[in-house]
Amino acid sequence: MADILIIDGDSAFTSQLANDLLRHNLPAAQCNSLARAMALLHIGDYKAVLLGDDLPDGDSLEYLSTIQEIPSFPEVIVISHSRDPDVAERAIQNGAWNYITKPPNMQQLLVLITRVINYHAERSSSAFPVSLRREGIIGNSRQLVACLDNVAQAAATEESVLIIGETGTGKELFARAIHKNSARVKKPFVVIDCAALPDALAENLLFGHERGAYTSADSHSTGLIRQADGGTLFLDEVGELPISLQKVFLRVLEGRSFRPVGGVNEITSDFRLLAATNRDLEAMVAEGEFRQDLFYRLLGTRIQLPPLRAILEDINELTCNFIRRHCQRFKMESKGFSPDFLDALMNYEWPGNIRELMNTIEQSLSRAGNENILYPRHLPKTIRSKVARRALEKKLLPEAQLETETMDITDFPELKSYRARKTAEIEKRYLKKLMEITGGNIKLACQMSGLSRARLYALIKQYCISRNS
Ligand SMILES: Nc1ncnc2c1ncn2[C@@H]1O[C@H](COP(=O)(O)OP(=O)(O)OP(=O)(O)O)[C@@H](O)[C@H]1O
Ligand SMILES: [Mg+2]
Repeated sequence: MADILIIDGDSAFTSQLANDLLRHNLPAAQCNSLARAMALLHIGDYKAVLLGDDLPDGDSLEYLSTIQEIPSFPEVIVISHSRDPDVAERAIQNGAWNYITKPPNMQQLLVLITRVINYHAERSSSAFPVSLRREGIIGNSRQLVACLDNVAQAAATEESVLIIGETGTGKELFARAIHKNSARVKKPFVVIDCAALPDALAENLLFGHERGAYTSADSHSTGLIRQADGGTLFLDEVGELPISLQKVFLRVLEGRSFRPVGGVNEITSDFRLLAATNRDLEAMVAEGEFRQDLFYRLLGTRIQLPPLRAILEDINELTCNFIRRHCQRFKMESKGFSPDFLDALMNYEWPGNIRELMNTIEQSLSRAGNENILYPRHLPKTIRSKVARRALEKKLLPEAQLETETMDITDFPELKSYRARKTAEIEKRYLKKLMEITGGNIKLACQMSGLSRARLYALIKQYCISRNS
């Protein structure tokens, strides 16, 4: 059964489009009225609807939300004659995945359809239990859903969890989600920011002190570790823990007991341990900067959060949510965004990840003022200029390569050898970029590329690619 339904009043257009899609192995059903479309949608299991215009029985855009509520929850791509920005705005505001004009650019349409179908498949196959509370975690990409699976599994156990990810990828958000989904939810979630533990006061903050432990200690204080009793202790930025404190922590983690400053007796604290870092702890262990025994204590389950540039398909949903949240908070009417605003977001590298996206959306909203739709001109200039540069670089690259290519007529290659050489070049460039983006993290690289571990290692070896490219 087809995954795609084409709806348009012009039967020549629907037949042509269905044929074009079939040539790309994408069978599509077609119809030329809204009444017929509704009937088909109710009996079919469509993932993508290509919604045109010129329909004899109504305005197609008015049916956008009805279509999205059909039980197969299809995503709608609007294909319209109209180049009027108001029409595009209305479509996006009513929930269209994208708005493109006729005649559709086939390459662009294929990319959009593939994205919609993948998104749909991931959303319906997400294996994490329905009962998992997401606690504000947004995203349905394969990588993010895999991390939510890990949250569900970790929440059901008492194991230590190490959450690894670049800045702004949601390490604290995920740590809180584990706690909130665990049996310890009614007890405290205590955060220790290891990057901000002053050496001199650390033991006091962690273990507390007895009255009279030192001159100014005129009352007893409960340290952070005891406060986490029954709950969860979250060691944030654990890679920043000074070596001297690593030893102290190791002792606490081994016995779940400690002695307050000035105290005589050992006190116990029953906490569940979570930790987060953006550093490569294994490399730190190898360099002697992090204790191996402490590393193994932290490492029960490992959750590797993807950088935003690896989960671009989540940008649409994240953006919609951030706009909605911000507008609700400031009691503003919600705003939509144009397809090229989304394109710009998808073409930026996001070094600050989801936090940077959230800040960018907030800045764009305040620049937009009373306008109802966000356009690229509302983005901060720094981001727009980087997007423009990248677009240009992308455009120049293939041309530059073609120009330097010598295709001498006297030594014209056979197609087979030419193809093999080009494939090798492309694979090598891809793998180099993959190692660069993932910082040589093999697990993440496998997730992003869809390659098995063994295949990835084999290719890296074949092309002599360094993991630190
Ligand atoms: N998947 C997500 N869905 C929604 N919001 C997210 C998501 N990931 C992160 N955020 C938001 O982005 C911001 C940064 O997240 P968080 O503080 O958890 O990141 P972090 O990895 O701990 O960053 P840092 O390393 O800089 O401390 C927070 O406001 C958080 O709510
Ligand atoms: Mg953090």
